[in-house]
Amino acid sequence: MLLKITILPGDGIGPEVTDEGVRVLESVAEVFGHQLSLSRKDVGGAAVQSSRDPLPKDTLLACQASHAVLLGAVGGTAFDNLSADLRPEKGLLRLRQELGVFANLRPAVCLTALEDCSPLRAEIVRGTNLLIVRELLGGIYFGERSIQGPKGNRTATDTMKYGEPEIERIARVAFELAKSRRRKVTSVDKANVLDCSRLWRQVVTSVSRDFSEIELQHMYVDSAAMALVSHPATFDVVLTENMFGDILSDQAGGVVGSLGMLASTSIGGPVALYEPVHGSAPDIAGRSIANPLGSILSVAMMLRHSFGLQTEAASVESSVATVLAAGHRTNDLAKPGQRPLSTQEMGRKVAEAVKEHAKLPGQLSAD
Ligand code: IPM
Ligand code: MG
Repeated sequence: MLLKITILPGDGIGPEVTDEGVRVLESVAEVFGHQLSLSRKDVGGAAVQSSRDPLPKDTLLACQASHAVLLGAVGGTAFDNLSADLRPEKGLLRLRQELGVFANLRPAVCLTALEDCSPLRAEIVRGTNLLIVRELLGGIYFGERSIQGPKGNRTATDTMKYGEPEIERIARVAFELAKSRRRKVTSVDKANVLDCSRLWRQVVTSVSRDFSEIELQHMYVDSAAMALVSHPATFDVVLTENMFGDILSDQAGGVVGSLGMLASTSIGGPVALYEPVHGSAPDIAGRSIANPLGSILSVAMMLRHSFGLQTEAASVESSVATVLAAGHRTNDLAKPGQRPLSTQEMGRKVAEAVKEHAKLPGQLSAD
């Protein structure tokens, strides 16, 4: 199969981790006999530096002309003083909008090998396997905003806005996904305070009538934040709006051991976007210590969701599990006294494991 993918390394640790995602992708292509057509483009701060635009036309056109997009991360302290439209983050938000990817899926799974990497006790995190379904194109991220008045007496406004169709389409995605999981949806809102959340709750409840086999639970976001650390394993699908999903997904990363492990896909338009959940981590950029597994697991999600390559996706995921079970750790996961693997060493280990797995009988069934 021809896999036509746009690679957007971005800023900070984005390029380092994305290189390892690509390394594993190349290993999959070699083992399973696929052709890769990769085109690398700038986004975020890198694009501001090269063309004074965090999402250059040429980058967007390349994304729209490909089957899938793999992004690293955007942002960095060097860009903090730029005007709102030139900020690296604005490039990512525009990309999500242009691609029409309204549903952001962020799985958080506690792998057996990493049970003792969580700051929580192993018996609390054991069995955690949840999926955050985050609305990605609405809410306070995209509402009207302004900053007005004289310095010393300025007022800033950000508005959260949701329409019924926007809530309905993301709710349907969550309920559909719950069908092939543990059939439970927890909808997270702040309906005791926000009108947006009251509308959210009504629409989600009415969508749930089409999914009688799925259990629906509503939770306020503050209570959900607490439950996520006290009994994370009870969650299955967590359906929520844009900003609550942003916050809870970082928290879920901490719960399962490291934010560096989390992968994501954003779907809803013709081309899906894949990115690790972590940010650009400027403090560790360029030091080869970042964990590339979030990018590598995003590649697995791409193989499954954009290309229907189930065996290949499973091979990447089981290779990650094998490498971790053998005790290999990057800096974020290493125990005191343990020599951590560099970003590149971890990427090579997984790429090699993909090749080793393929040698086992029955691994190369064509589907
Ligand atoms: C994420 C990030 C982005 C977001 C930033 C970089 C705009 O934090 O993907 O979670 O807030 O959506
Ligand atoms: Mg975030």
